[in-house]
Amino acid sequence: MNDTAKIMNVLSLFDGMSCGQIALERVGIAIDNYFASEVDKYAIQITQKNYPKTQQLGTVTEVRGCDLPKIDLLIGGSPCQGFSFAGKQLNFDDPRSALFFEFVRLLKETKPKYFLLENVRMKKEYQDIISEHLGVKPIMINSALVSAQNRVRLYWTNIPNVTQPEDRKITLKDILETETDEGWNEIKKEWSPKFCKNYVQWDMNGKGNGSQSQRAYYGNGKHGTLTSSGAASKTKVLHEDKMSYRRLTVVERERLQTLPYNCTRGVSNTQRCGMIGNGWTIDAVAHILKNIK
Ligand SMILES: C[S@@+](CC[C@H](N)C(=O)[O-])C[C@H]1O[C@@H](n2cnc3c(N)ncnc32)[C@H](O)[C@@H]1O
Repeated sequence: MNDTAKIMNVLSLFDGMSCGQIALERVGIAIDNYFASEVDKYAIQITQKNYPKTQQLGTVTEVRGCDLPKIDLLIGGSPCQGFSFAGKQLNFDDPRSALFFEFVRLLKETKPKYFLLENVRMKKEYQDIISEHLGVKPIMINSALVSAQNRVRLYWTNIPNVTQPEDRKITLKDILETETDEGWNEIKKEWSPKFCKNYVQWDMNGKGNGSQSQRAYYGNGKHGTLTSSGAASKTKVLHEDKMSYRRLTVVERERLQTLPYNCTRGVSNTQRCGMIGNGWTIDAVAHILKNIK
């Protein structure tokens, strides 16, 4: 434990695989009680494997501040499908995005010293609604500064003095495993590969549309944003020969989020990819949490 270690009660909403707990550990903040609200059984399974003392509270709608001890830190990344530019922009009418208001309710009920809400980049009008409820403006951080993944996220927090992280200049080739079972596949000329800024994309004889699953990222650049969807979990890295590619391994996906080695092991690869895509870039969140006094 380093000299910044503190004892805290944490309430983590939409806790997923508990990236909040991993980030707190990374900055040496000792946790007294970690209360997690999550409904996905696979994410809960991974949390309990890594942090058996986590106190799981179930769905956020049933969590009552009056049933908890004094909370020092409230954290969460509410489901973002209704806000996301990638989604249908349903905003607060989408019941998944409306879960944000549960964060607001528990902020009022628990009155923590510090809070941190993470979410995707969204239309300014939605951002403003969140800012109004939380009383702070978001800080935009691209995980690319601390990892090999482009992932722009908004962080609303009252933790003071948060600045942009220093650019570690990590690229995809820095996080690749040297020995993997993933074989290299040729990109055939007839698939009409098109070389874009960060990746090559192709269209397999008109069967595909050059979307995420038919992209291979250049090793000397950044990977695109990992998501929880099946197609995105199929993204690939381009070989130096520029005409072959392979899938990323699950460990490489963990590294794109700066997660500890194999921390999602224990469920299927599909579940692992889903929770990694849903999760936080640990070093981006740790960069914010390290300012807790
Ligand atoms: C964007 S993810 C957040 C992931 C998390 N930050 C992590 O560290 O892995 C949103 C999470 O909210 C969870 N969720 C959805 N409905 C919920 C509810 N009613 N109560 C609690 N969690 C819920 C989902 O299962 C999902 O894991």
